[in-house]
Amino acid sequence: MAFFEWRDAPKSDYAVIGDPIEHSRSPAMHQHAFDALGLDLKYVAVRVPVEETSLALDHLRTLGYRGVNVTVPLKEAVIDWLSEVEDFARRVRAVNTIDLVSKRGINTDAPGFTASLSQFEFDQGSKMLLLGAGGSSRAIALEAEQQGFELFIYNRTVDKAHSLVSSLRLKATVLAEPDVRDIDLIVNATSASLYGERLAIDWTAASPNAVAYDLFYSSHGTQFLVDAQNAGLRTVDGLALLAAQGRLSFEWWLGRKAPEPFGFL
Ligand code: ATR
Repeated sequence: MAFFEWRDAPKSDYAVIGDPIEHSRSPAMHQHAFDALGLDLKYVAVRVPVEETSLALDHLRTLGYRGVNVTVPLKEAVIDWLSEVEDFARRVRAVNTIDLVSKRGINTDAPGFTASLSQFEFDQGSKMLLLGAGGSSRAIALEAEQQGFELFIYNRTVDKAHSLVSSLRLKATVLAEPDVRDIDLIVNATSASLYGERLAIDWTAASPNAVAYDLFYSSHGTQFLVDAQNAGLRTVDGLALLAAQGRLSFEWWLGRKAPEPFGFL
């Protein structure tokens, strides 16, 4: 996909910023939505090295951009530039949607995660196992707790799981192994899928009613989801999250309903 270096960014209305950015599917998704509603708006992908975040945001704002989506590794770095940050986003230190005009930032990954689970019926107290304790895990962990899941966290580096739990003051249980027994929802927030690596999960112990969710996506399915599917579980991939968070960003920016369907689903 075409993308621009921030200094060479063309005139546009919206953008996704990150580094790397060439694989982002946000431009196609949002442009499709703008076009479907007959809106004369443009959305592009712009590469921004993390150390140039504030300079780039000033530049895009001056060029007349109205909003940006923010992806890895900029979700925390943009906070310093903003005048107003939603409480949830400040707590998880991750902003993925910015209104450049008012310099406000919010997190739509977390409500998008919940929205993308609406096809399933999880009761209050359902057990969720979160795999990973990096940047992407923070918003999902807090959202899961606020949605009433009983939360378990496993991370290859166990100390990082403990830090995540204590810094967000979660009631979660840190596991020494990725034990999926009795778990209702297993969420992969590790970057293992990106490298085609396999997590050491004993899928034979999983409940056949469980749902496996990979926050990442890949055109040929991630190893995590292939393994889960082979074990008979229902699965959700990162495209569901991409579409759900994108829809919420769209509606927040434009103050109107996004077209149905939104994204690639
Ligand atoms: P992100 O912002 O996408 O969450 P990150 O902050 O770099 O990225 O975190 C990556 C996460 O994936 C971490 O939880 C990492 O585990 P460690 O804390 O032990 O490094 C996890 N991860 C990456 N590759 C992995 C692999 N092959 N197996 C298991 N966990 C992996």
